[in-house]
Amino acid sequence: MPTLLERDFPIDAINYYSSAEKGPGRPPHWEMVFWWTRKPLAGARAIIAASLLPDNAYQRTESFLYDLFPCINEKKIVHSCNPSPRLIEKLRGKKLLDPFAGFGSIPLEASRLGVDAVAVELLPTAYVFLKAVLEYPRLFRDRFVEVDGKTVKELGLEDAVKQFSGRREVSESGRYRVPMLIYEVARWGSWVINRLREDPVIRELYDADVYIGTWEVKCPVCHRYTPLVGNWWLARVKSGKKSFERLAWMEWQNGEIKVVDLNEQCRQQKLRNCNNLSAEVTTRGEESGSVRWANQEFVVPTKNVDAKDETAQCLYCRAEINHRVVNGKVVKGGKKEGDWYVKWALRQWNENYEKYLRGEITLDELKQSPARPTLLVKVYVKDGDLQFKPATQQDTEKLWKAAEELRKMWGDPDIPTEQISVYETKRITPILGANRWYQFFNPRQLLTLIKLVKLIRQVGHMVEEEKKLKEGWNAEDAKKYAEAVTTYMAIALARYAGHTSISTPWTSATGFGSALALKPANVMSFRGIAMVWNYCDTTPIRDFAGTYIRALKTITDGISYLIRVPSQGTSKVLLDDATELSRLEGERFDVIVTDPPYADDVPYSELSDFYYVWLKRALSDVENNELKPRFLPEAFFDDFGLEIPTQWQRFAPKEVSENEGRWEHFSLKVTFAELLTRAFANVLRFLKDDGLLVVYYVAKRPEAWAALVDALWRENGLELVAAYPVETESEENVVARGKASVLGGYVSAWRRRVGEKPLDLDEKREEAVREVASRLEANREALRRLKAEREEAEREEANREALRSTKGGATMWVYSYLAALEYLTAHYPVRLGGVELSSDGLMRQAVVLAFEALLRSSGIKLTDRGAHAYLALRIMESEGGRVDSDTLSYVEKAVGLEHKDLVRLGLITEVETGGPNVAKRKTFEVLAPRNDSVDEVKRVYSLQRGRSAALDCLRQLQLNATTRIRTLIACTSEVREEALNLARALIELSKLGLLDKDDADVKLSRLVLGMEWWQ
Ligand SMILES: C[S@@+](CC[C@H](N)C(=O)[O-])C[C@H]1O[C@@H](n2cnc3c(N)ncnc32)[C@H](O)[C@@H]1O
Ligand SMILES: [Zn+2]
Repeated sequence: MPTLLERDFPIDAINYYSSAEKGPGRPPHWEMVFWWTRKPLAGARAIIAASLLPDNAYQRTESFLYDLFPCINEKKIVHSCNPSPRLIEKLRGKKLLDPFAGFGSIPLEASRLGVDAVAVELLPTAYVFLKAVLEYPRLFRDRFVEVDGKTVKELGLEDAVKQFSGRREVSESGRYRVPMLIYEVARWGSWVINRLREDPVIRELYDADVYIGTWEVKCPVCHRYTPLVGNWWLARVKSGKKSFERLAWMEWQNGEIKVVDLNEQCRQQKLRNCNNLSAEVTTRGEESGSVRWANQEFVVPTKNVDAKDETAQCLYCRAEINHRVVNGKVVKGGKKEGDWYVKWALRQWNENYEKYLRGEITLDELKQSPARPTLLVKVYVKDGDLQFKPATQQDTEKLWKAAEELRKMWGDPDIPTEQISVYETKRITPILGANRWYQFFNPRQLLTLIKLVKLIRQVGHMVEEEKKLKEGWNAEDAKKYAEAVTTYMAIALARYAGHTSISTPWTSATGFGSALALKPANVMSFRGIAMVWNYCDTTPIRDFAGTYIRALKTITDGISYLIRVPSQGTSKVLLDDATELSRLEGERFDVIVTDPPYADDVPYSELSDFYYVWLKRALSDVENNELKPRFLPEAFFDDFGLEIPTQWQRFAPKEVSENEGRWEHFSLKVTFAELLTRAFANVLRFLKDDGLLVVYYVAKRPEAWAALVDALWRENGLELVAAYPVETESEENVVARGKASVLGGYVSAWRRRVGEKPLDLDEKREEAVREVASRLEANREALRRLKAEREEAEREEANREALRSTKGGATMWVYSYLAALEYLTAHYPVRLGGVELSSDGLMRQAVVLAFEALLRSSGIKLTDRGAHAYLALRIMESEGGRVDSDTLSYVEKAVGLEHKDLVRLGLITEVETGGPNVAKRKTFEVLAPRNDSVDEVKRVYSLQRGRSAALDCLRQLQLNATTRIRTLIACTSEVREEALNLARALIELSKLGLLDKDDADVKLSRLVLGMEWWQ
């Protein structure tokens, strides 16, 4: 029996609600710590429910939506309301497996729906996070404590009081019930903070809230140490279209950093509206710019380092530092031999840093490294505003003071000396040349984090003792509870580390918002750990974004959300490899819903080691100067009780992903498709015979798609039964992706193919086209029904917004493509021209079939490949008639032509995008008439003449039609028929909404077909 996911799934509405989970709509527990590619909860919930319900479960889409999100009529952010009991009753007892669980969106939503979920993760870091998301809140959600009002205020638990007792006001004398877990994370957090505040070293080291620092290098020309600054802005916070709440930046004057703070100046000059400066600001890139304010002109300096171009500038003598170091000798730049001086200098720093800590060189020698850390500006949070002051020599001295402290404790296992992956050199600060994790922190940052580790470890022991001795818990429960509290505090530590490292940039600009929105940015918001030249060294002990205090607050907010997710189904977290799963032997699941890695998108093992080294310490004990198992030992120690140094050393070879460097390092001879195939072959053992496999997949390159089809269709005997473009966490939403959405994220549902079903496309072409066309018709029928329902809903004012977004023509194209792929994957093997099709070939045929099916009703036949390519490009092009290289490679695969063929056929030209920052991606213009004037047709004809026969001929016909001059048309009658079919196809596609009805080429085609005289 088909499921709701296979028929009438309201994907538009679901995408609409998923898209609300961005910015402030994000699920609060996501803020606890960063993990990559988390899936929106609303979408996960709907997909899980639909994959388990029969297609006739609901008469009306609206009732389904309502049962999923009972608050749907009041809110757009619906993830926070729990599904209706009626729906939960329908799903109770079903079992779901997610073998690539990540941060756990899928299992979280499953258990919310009453489904019993098993979440599997390869990486210990994600495993620890999964425990915090799925396990602890459920275990301890029923335990409450009563706290007096004074304590509520001191610990900042007002929100928890509001959420759990509904009381808005907190009075000092009142008593309030709050969840024990929230209370104790806050309470022990506060204990930790107080210890740090009392620590004389910490007190001495931090007198500002954030220090903005960078590297300085010894100029090879004048031999002075010049700071390298990547971004001179300190604050650019808008308050209106042309007004700013905050404007400040750094300058270099007389050998020193100066702060220019316009709000300050405004106040000093006793002007009005100093919190709302009306200024004109132009920026060049993010790094510099100019400002006009109060009839004055200012220039914000340009960055004086460009690691990509391997050049910098000395702020003292202005010399260009593009020197190279060849065999240890500094030579003038020019030829790209040896290493760039700055890169070499940073490497020297890292070597000396370690030598110093080991006691091999003196502090003076360390300070004389050709590169060394320095501080630029101190940031103070005061009365809801930020103050900036230039950092002084004394401030920098504090870094050296911290270094001295560290040297005394060298050999302490709490210093993360683990190796950074040796091969992931591109995505982990290639310039820095750090090879051990502690080098990601300047001495003060490092010392502070180590002190925190020790305190958190101590908390673990105290919590356990307290529960056992004072409160009489049994030993097992007390330990589990201590594990939970310590884990949350350790996650807060990981979050804090991400906000105080030499790769944590200061965010100087925000859109509209308050000055307090400026903050240390997360170290890993991208798919790598970047080199930054304005890093944040953040105090642990103040209440400001990025501090440890704030991290604890973020954690308790997250726990509060998770506790409010009712435990309907069970959820189990397993640390295992999707290709093994020995502990699941004998189990059978109703559905597998999962979100595997996408080719080379994120090197999970290597990047999340940044967190791993801290989690390991905070959750383990120290004995005889070694780490020893304590909490979650399976994450940090192997079966022999030996410490696992890093994830990359142990787990990377098992990670399902594409990674040349990694494969080479471990001498693995595999491809991503093989890894994916192996993993799916294994997980399918645990799926019931009639169960669905539902896969999220986000990939732009067609190769990555072919890998998925390979793994599921070719190697594991599955057929595609449904697919939808879905909203993912990426900034670009489905609607914005528009025509190119065929490239973006999909959720696809697969079933076991029954029996051998060979298909010979040469023989069965007609049947294939008919079949795809009829699937399309069914799809269109569903669309029509949805539309009618939407109109009705609109009349009733219910769900109005959600249902407003309709499927545009572009989506129609996606659906025809998917219909073709569904038809094809239902068969195996598929032959064409006597050869068996590969997954790649199959996907290409899907495009051809999709075209034919779309054009079938009109009886149009096109054989010319150039004509196919032209139509594909026109359908996929963006607003301005351009395609990016991802889209292009898709078209290439689809029509079996290469990029140079498309150029040769006069279908595209490369567009100069210019500028250093845009070098990321190539763009191409699709050559087509953009208006219906004679000149325009001439222009395009001159570019396409003599290239693709069909297009050449079409343009000639268009010229005749527009000029109304009847000239001899130089093409054979066969080619002319093809050209006329192309014209008909263009019109047909516009009727289907795949091309604009005002598209110039469509208009011109109408003109051509409207003329009888050339026939
Ligand atoms: C795309 S993420 C999942 C994100 C998740 N759906 C969420 O919403 O947070 C893929 C996950 O697969 C994990 N992974 C990679 N190889 C694996 C393997 N062999 N076994 C289990 N998990 C693996 C990665 O560590 C990563 O966390
Ligand atoms: Zn110089």
